[in-house]
Amino acid sequence: MDRYALIGHPVEHSTSPLIHAAFARQTQQELSYQALLAPLDGFSDTVRMFRAEGGRGANITVPFKIEACSLATRLTERARLAGAVNTLTFGDDIIIGDNTDGIGLVRDLIINLGCPLAGRHVLLLGAGGAARGAIFPLFQTKPVSLTIANRSIERAQELRAAFAPHAGQTAFTAGGFEDLGGWEFDVVINATSASLKKEALHLPRNIFAPDAFAYDMMYGASDTPFLAWARAAGVARLSDGLGMLVEQAAESFALWRGVRPNSASVLSNLRRKLASKG
Ligand code: ATR
Repeated sequence: MDRYALIGHPVEHSTSPLIHAAFARQTQQELSYQALLAPLDGFSDTVRMFRAEGGRGANITVPFKIEACSLATRLTERARLAGAVNTLTFGDDIIIGDNTDGIGLVRDLIINLGCPLAGRHVLLLGAGGAARGAIFPLFQTKPVSLTIANRSIERAQELRAAFAPHAGQTAFTAGGFEDLGGWEFDVVINATSASLKKEALHLPRNIFAPDAFAYDMMYGASDTPFLAWARAAGVARLSDGLGMLVEQAAESFALWRGVRPNSASVLSNLRRKLASKG
Protein backbone atom coordinates (compact mmCIF):
# COMPACT_ATOMS: atom_id res chain seq x y z
CA MET A 1 0.00 0.00 0.00
CA ASP A 2 1.37 3.44 -0.89
CA ARG A 3 2.23 5.48 2.17
CA TYR A 4 1.83 9.20 2.76
CA ALA A 5 2.18 11.27 5.90
CA LEU A 6 1.75 14.65 7.48
CA ILE A 7 5.04 15.61 9.13
CA GLY A 8 5.05 18.38 11.71
CA HIS A 9 5.38 19.25 15.38
CA PRO A 10 2.76 19.01 16.79
CA VAL A 11 0.57 16.84 14.55
CA GLU A 12 -1.68 14.90 16.90
CA HIS A 13 -4.77 17.10 16.47
CA SER A 14 -4.45 17.35 12.71
CA THR A 15 -7.47 16.77 10.50
CA SER A 16 -5.37 15.90 7.43
CA PRO A 17 -5.36 12.09 7.99
CA LEU A 18 -9.18 12.17 8.06
CA ILE A 19 -9.33 14.25 4.90
CA HIS A 20 -6.92 12.05 2.94
CA ALA A 21 -8.61 8.87 4.14
CA ALA A 22 -11.91 10.26 2.85
CA PHE A 23 -10.32 11.20 -0.50
CA ALA A 24 -8.80 7.71 -0.80
CA ARG A 25 -12.14 5.98 -0.11
CA GLN A 26 -13.93 8.23 -2.53
CA THR A 27 -11.46 7.67 -5.39
CA GLN A 28 -10.82 4.00 -4.51
CA GLN A 29 -7.12 4.56 -4.08
CA GLU A 30 -5.17 2.07 -1.97
CA LEU A 31 -3.08 4.25 0.32
CA SER A 32 -2.38 5.06 3.93
CA TYR A 33 -1.88 8.54 5.37
CA GLN A 34 -0.54 9.00 8.87
CA ALA A 35 0.40 11.89 11.14
CA LEU A 36 4.13 11.72 11.87
CA LEU A 37 5.61 13.74 14.72
CA ALA A 38 9.16 14.89 13.90
CA PRO A 39 11.48 16.06 16.67
CA LEU A 40 12.13 19.79 16.35
CA ASP A 41 15.75 19.10 15.40
CA GLY A 42 14.99 15.97 13.43
CA PHE A 43 12.88 16.96 10.44
CA SER A 44 15.21 15.75 7.69
CA ASP A 45 15.92 12.47 9.52
CA THR A 46 12.19 11.86 9.86
CA VAL A 47 11.67 12.46 6.14
CA ARG A 48 14.63 10.23 5.28
CA MET A 49 13.31 7.39 7.42
CA PHE A 50 9.79 7.71 6.09
CA ARG A 51 11.11 7.63 2.55
CA ALA A 52 13.34 4.62 3.29
CA GLU A 53 10.27 2.80 4.64
CA GLY A 54 8.50 3.32 1.32
CA GLY A 55 6.85 6.72 1.82
CA ARG A 56 5.69 8.16 -1.53
CA GLY A 57 4.94 11.71 -0.39
CA ALA A 58 4.33 13.93 2.59
CA ASN A 59 2.54 17.05 3.63
CA ILE A 60 4.66 19.32 5.76
CA THR A 61 3.29 21.55 8.46
CA VAL A 62 4.45 23.87 11.23
CA PRO A 63 7.31 24.47 11.91
CA PHE A 64 9.03 22.69 9.01
CA LYS A 65 7.65 24.32 5.86
CA ILE A 66 10.73 26.47 5.31
CA GLU A 67 13.18 23.66 6.12
CA ALA A 68 11.31 21.48 3.62
CA CYS A 69 12.35 23.90 0.86
CA SER A 70 15.99 23.01 1.27
CA LEU A 71 15.24 19.31 1.51
CA ALA A 72 13.52 19.30 -1.87
CA THR A 73 15.81 18.69 -4.85
CA ARG A 74 13.38 20.52 -7.13
CA LEU A 75 10.87 23.26 -6.28
CA THR A 76 7.79 24.30 -8.21
CA GLU A 77 7.61 28.01 -8.99
CA ARG A 78 4.82 28.59 -6.48
CA ALA A 79 6.83 26.85 -3.72
CA ARG A 80 9.97 28.80 -4.58
CA LEU A 81 8.07 32.08 -4.42
CA ALA A 82 6.27 31.10 -1.23
CA GLY A 83 9.62 30.20 0.31
CA ALA A 84 7.80 27.28 1.89
CA VAL A 85 6.83 23.72 1.00
CA ASN A 86 3.74 21.91 2.23
CA THR A 87 3.88 18.97 -0.20
CA LEU A 88 6.81 16.65 -0.92
CA THR A 89 6.67 14.00 -3.62
CA PHE A 90 9.37 11.35 -3.50
CA GLY A 91 10.78 9.90 -6.72
CA ASP A 92 13.75 7.54 -7.05
CA ASP A 93 16.39 10.28 -7.23
CA ILE A 94 14.28 13.34 -6.71
CA ILE A 95 12.23 15.11 -4.05
CA ILE A 96 9.76 17.60 -5.53
CA GLY A 97 8.68 20.39 -3.20
CA ASP A 98 5.40 22.14 -3.91
CA ASN A 99 3.11 24.50 -2.05
CA THR A 100 -0.64 23.94 -2.38
CA ASP A 101 -1.78 26.36 0.35
CA GLY A 102 -2.30 29.34 -1.94
CA ILE A 103 -4.14 27.43 -4.64
CA GLY A 104 -6.24 25.91 -1.85
CA LEU A 105 -7.24 29.39 -0.74
CA VAL A 106 -8.03 30.50 -4.28
CA ARG A 107 -10.09 27.40 -5.09
CA ASP A 108 -12.03 27.72 -1.83
CA LEU A 109 -12.88 31.34 -2.56
CA ILE A 110 -13.72 30.98 -6.24
CA ILE A 111 -15.27 27.51 -6.46
CA ASN A 112 -16.67 26.69 -3.02
CA LEU A 113 -17.69 30.17 -1.96
CA GLY A 114 -18.57 31.73 -5.31
CA CYS A 115 -16.31 34.70 -4.65
CA PRO A 116 -14.56 35.65 -7.90
CA LEU A 117 -11.20 37.39 -7.65
CA ALA A 118 -10.64 38.49 -11.25
CA GLY A 119 -11.18 42.22 -11.59
CA ARG A 120 -11.67 42.70 -7.83
CA HIS A 121 -9.82 44.76 -5.24
CA VAL A 122 -8.23 42.29 -2.85
CA LEU A 123 -6.68 43.06 0.54
CA LEU A 124 -4.34 40.54 2.15
CA LEU A 125 -3.70 41.09 5.87
CA GLY A 126 -0.38 39.80 7.20
CA ALA A 127 3.14 39.34 5.87
CA GLY A 128 4.21 36.04 7.43
CA GLY A 129 4.43 32.62 5.84
CA ALA A 130 0.67 32.29 5.31
CA ALA A 131 0.47 35.57 3.40
CA ARG A 132 3.59 34.81 1.41
CA GLY A 133 2.15 31.52 0.18
CA ALA A 134 -1.02 33.23 -1.06
CA ILE A 135 0.42 36.07 -3.14
CA PHE A 136 1.48 34.30 -6.34
CA PRO A 137 -1.71 32.19 -6.63
CA LEU A 138 -3.72 35.38 -5.99
CA PHE A 139 -1.92 37.15 -8.85
CA GLN A 140 -2.81 34.25 -11.11
CA THR A 141 -6.51 35.00 -10.56
CA LYS A 142 -5.93 38.51 -12.01
CA PRO A 143 -7.37 40.83 -9.37
CA VAL A 144 -7.37 44.48 -10.43
CA SER A 145 -5.42 45.28 -7.27
CA LEU A 146 -3.73 43.40 -4.47
CA THR A 147 -2.84 45.29 -1.30
CA ILE A 148 -0.77 43.79 1.49
CA ALA A 149 -1.22 45.36 4.91
CA ASN A 150 0.73 44.27 7.94
CA ARG A 151 1.23 45.43 11.52
CA SER A 152 4.92 45.91 10.83
CA ILE A 153 5.13 47.87 7.60
CA GLU A 154 8.67 46.74 6.75
CA ARG A 155 7.60 43.09 6.39
CA ALA A 156 4.78 44.11 4.02
CA GLN A 157 7.23 46.15 1.98
CA GLU A 158 9.67 43.25 1.82
CA LEU A 159 6.94 41.09 0.32
CA ARG A 160 6.07 43.80 -2.14
CA ALA A 161 9.68 43.97 -3.31
CA ALA A 162 9.92 40.19 -3.63
CA PHE A 163 6.65 39.70 -5.54
CA ALA A 164 6.43 42.87 -7.65
CA PRO A 165 7.96 41.19 -10.73
CA HIS A 166 5.08 38.69 -10.72
CA ALA A 167 2.19 41.13 -10.36
CA GLY A 168 1.37 41.26 -14.08
CA GLN A 169 -1.53 43.68 -14.65
CA THR A 170 -2.47 43.73 -10.95
CA ALA A 171 -1.79 47.00 -9.10
CA PHE A 172 0.31 45.83 -6.17
CA THR A 173 0.84 47.92 -3.04
CA ALA A 174 1.90 47.32 0.55
CA GLY A 175 1.73 49.25 3.80
CA GLY A 176 0.54 49.33 7.39
CA PHE A 177 -3.03 49.00 8.71
CA GLU A 178 -3.39 52.75 9.18
CA ASP A 179 -2.65 53.28 5.46
CA LEU A 180 -5.93 51.50 4.66
CA GLY A 181 -8.10 54.41 5.77
CA GLY A 182 -10.22 55.71 2.87
CA TRP A 183 -9.78 52.58 0.72
CA GLU A 184 -12.42 49.92 0.08
CA PHE A 185 -11.86 46.30 -0.87
CA ASP A 186 -14.10 43.62 -2.40
CA VAL A 187 -12.27 40.72 -0.75
CA VAL A 188 -10.39 40.94 2.55
CA ILE A 189 -8.29 37.91 3.50
CA ASN A 190 -6.85 37.55 6.97
CA ALA A 191 -3.50 35.75 6.79
CA THR A 192 -2.22 36.99 10.15
CA SER A 193 -1.96 34.65 13.11
CA ALA A 194 -4.00 37.05 15.25
CA SER A 195 -7.12 34.85 15.21
CA LEU A 196 -5.07 31.90 16.42
CA LYS A 197 -4.08 33.96 19.43
CA LYS A 198 -7.65 35.26 19.81
CA GLU A 199 -6.38 38.77 19.19
CA ALA A 200 -8.23 41.50 17.32
CA LEU A 201 -6.62 43.37 14.44
CA HIS A 202 -6.61 47.13 14.66
CA LEU A 203 -8.08 47.99 11.28
CA PRO A 204 -10.14 50.90 10.04
CA ARG A 205 -13.82 49.79 10.00
CA ASN A 206 -14.65 51.13 6.57
CA ILE A 207 -12.34 48.96 4.45
CA PHE A 208 -15.21 46.91 3.04
CA ALA A 209 -16.78 47.73 -0.33
CA PRO A 210 -20.54 47.07 -0.63
CA ASP A 211 -21.11 43.29 -0.85
CA ALA A 212 -17.52 42.59 0.24
CA PHE A 213 -16.29 39.15 1.25
CA ALA A 214 -14.28 38.58 4.44
CA TYR A 215 -12.14 35.44 4.66
CA ASP A 216 -10.05 34.16 7.56
CA MET A 217 -7.43 31.48 6.88
CA MET A 218 -7.99 30.23 10.45
CA TYR A 219 -11.07 28.19 11.26
CA GLY A 220 -13.13 27.20 14.24
CA ALA A 221 -16.58 26.18 15.47
CA SER A 222 -17.64 29.81 15.66
CA ASP A 223 -16.57 33.13 14.12
CA THR A 224 -12.87 33.90 14.49
CA PRO A 225 -12.20 37.33 16.06
CA PHE A 226 -11.56 38.75 12.57
CA LEU A 227 -14.82 37.37 11.18
CA ALA A 228 -16.77 38.57 14.22
CA TRP A 229 -15.27 42.02 13.68
CA ALA A 230 -16.12 41.97 9.95
CA ARG A 231 -19.69 40.87 10.73
CA ALA A 232 -20.03 43.73 13.20
CA ALA A 233 -18.77 46.08 10.48
CA GLY A 234 -21.72 44.97 8.33
CA VAL A 235 -20.11 42.28 6.14
CA ALA A 236 -22.64 39.60 5.23
CA ARG A 237 -20.45 37.26 3.17
CA LEU A 238 -17.81 35.59 5.29
CA SER A 239 -15.89 32.36 5.59
CA ASP A 240 -13.26 30.78 7.75
CA GLY A 241 -10.40 28.72 6.29
CA LEU A 242 -11.74 25.18 6.70
CA GLY A 243 -12.32 24.99 2.95
CA MET A 244 -8.74 26.10 2.32
CA LEU A 245 -7.51 23.21 4.46
CA VAL A 246 -9.57 20.74 2.44
CA GLU A 247 -8.61 22.28 -0.91
CA GLN A 248 -4.87 22.30 -0.22
CA ALA A 249 -5.20 18.64 0.72
CA ALA A 250 -7.16 17.92 -2.48
CA GLU A 251 -4.44 19.59 -4.53
CA SER A 252 -1.72 17.49 -2.83
CA PHE A 253 -3.80 14.36 -3.33
CA ALA A 254 -4.24 15.17 -7.02
CA LEU A 255 -0.48 15.75 -7.41
CA TRP A 256 0.34 12.42 -5.80
CA ARG A 257 -2.41 10.27 -7.27
CA GLY A 258 -3.29 11.94 -10.55
CA VAL A 259 -6.96 12.04 -9.61
CA ARG A 260 -8.88 14.98 -8.13
CA PRO A 261 -11.14 14.06 -5.23
CA ASN A 262 -14.55 15.60 -4.63
CA SER A 263 -13.67 18.08 -1.92
CA ALA A 264 -17.20 19.44 -1.42
CA SER A 265 -18.57 16.35 0.34
CA VAL A 266 -15.49 16.07 2.57
CA LEU A 267 -15.75 19.75 3.45
CA SER A 268 -19.44 19.53 4.38
CA ASN A 269 -18.77 16.50 6.61
CA LEU A 270 -15.94 18.30 8.36
CA ARG A 271 -18.07 21.41 8.77
CA ARG A 272 -20.78 19.32 10.46
CA LYS A 273 -18.23 17.73 12.78
CA LEU A 274 -16.73 21.09 13.67
CA ALA A 275 -20.17 22.63 14.35
CA SER A 276 -21.08 19.76 16.69
CA LYS A 277 -17.96 20.54 18.75
CA GLY A 278 -18.85 24.22 19.08
P1 ATR B 1 2.52 32.60 9.68
O1 ATR B 1 3.54 31.69 9.10
O2 ATR B 1 1.35 31.91 10.31
O3 ATR B 1 2.08 33.66 8.72
P2 ATR B 1 4.31 34.42 11.02
O4 ATR B 1 5.32 34.32 9.95
O5 ATR B 1 4.76 34.42 12.45
O6 ATR B 1 3.23 33.27 10.94
O7 ATR B 1 3.45 35.73 10.74
C1 ATR B 1 2.41 36.11 11.57
C2 ATR B 1 1.68 37.26 10.93
O8 ATR B 1 0.57 37.63 11.77
C3 ATR B 1 2.50 38.50 10.76
O9 ATR B 1 2.03 39.21 9.64
C4 ATR B 1 2.20 39.27 12.06
O10 ATR B 1 2.40 40.65 11.98
P3 ATR B 1 3.90 41.27 12.25
O11 ATR B 1 4.69 40.97 11.02
O12 ATR B 1 3.66 42.72 12.44
O13 ATR B 1 4.39 40.57 13.48
C5 ATR B 1 0.72 38.98 12.16
N1 ATR B 1 0.15 39.14 13.50
C6 ATR B 1 0.19 38.29 14.52
N2 ATR B 1 -0.48 38.75 15.59
C7 ATR B 1 -1.00 39.95 15.23
C8 ATR B 1 -1.81 40.93 15.87
N3 ATR B 1 -2.25 40.80 17.12
N4 ATR B 1 -2.14 42.05 15.19
C9 ATR B 1 -1.70 42.22 13.93
N5 ATR B 1 -0.94 41.32 13.25
C10 ATR B 1 -0.60 40.21 13.89
